[in-house]
Amino acid sequence: MKPVIVVHGGAGTIFKDREEGYRTGVKRAALKGYNILKNGGSALEAVEEAVVVMEDDPHFNAGCGSVLNEKGDVEMDAIIMDGKNLASGAVSAARCIANPIKLARLVMEKTDHMLLTDRGASIFAKAQGIPEVPGEMLVTDRSRERWKANLKPESNPAVPQIDLGTVGAVAIDSDGSVACATSTGGLTNKLVGRVGDTACIGSGGYADDLVGATSTTGHGESIMKVVLARLVLHHMEQGMTPEEAADAALSYMKERVNGHGGVIVISKSGGWTAKFSTKQMSWAAVTDGQLQCGIYQGENQITTVEEALALLLN
Ligand code: GLY
Repeated sequence: MKPVIVVHGGAGTIFKDREEGYRTGVKRAALKGYNILKNGGSALEAVEEAVVVMEDDPHFNAGCGSVLNEKGDVEMDAIIMDGKNLASGAVSAARCIANPIKLARLVMEKTDHMLLTDRGASIFAKAQGIPEVPGEMLVTDRSRERWKANLKPESNPAVPQIDLGTVGAVAIDSDGSVACATSTGGLTNKLVGRVGDTACIGSGGYADDLVGATSTTGHGESIMKVVLARLVLHHMEQGMTPEEAADAALSYMKERVNGHGGVIVISKSGGWTAKFSTKQMSWAAVTDGQLQCGIYQGENQITTVEEALALLLN
């Protein structure tokens, strides 16, 4: 099987001055994951490391760069899933760690549970030797400004957030195994303790070697209502291609609950797609030594991996 990785840096609206940062960020993440796959690494390792790259990049709403809750704090959700055996681990409302996706993987591998939340996640992180970082280190000027603007009496909480964020990755390795990983700071000015789709299996992501893998992004409450990631895989089980399945699931979410978002999908035979019903979604994919990337509907910039690496290193 030829390895493939697809990543997203969140569906929504990307402001003009941030477009290049998003493009560079998703390319870096996809190349990091592909390098692991090319050297014989597993899909699980590849998606984890790709997501770590985006959690560490302040452009994205995950890890450093996460949006703030109503009290001005960062609370993060993440999930990882291994298509080999349907093992999955997740954290929700996680605080003061740099990489929630790593903690999600430890939940999967070191506990009999699938999801640890808030204080329990913190206790577990400490027990696993994950360094605590001051909450302030995860907060960017931009996220603090947005939080403050949303607290103003004239701000309208009924207007849906347009730059939704979230990061994710799906991959297939040379053994034909698939995996997914998704990580987010959630919705800006969310209630303390709000858990979104990302931490919920079948909503924020799903991976099954018998079908394929998906990672989602968008309005979490809508995604949860239609269990978006599992819905995509369900359509593929019924014979749809990744593209058809993504379109059908996103249309259903729009028609049924007026929800918008995006998905990246990989099939058990290595077919893939990146689709969204929002104005934009940053995404990148690497397969066969070729890197593809886009932000707008219909955009697909294609370069060789060598060209992309040279550009990123300059
Ligand atoms: N999809 C991210 C969230 O709503 O939390």
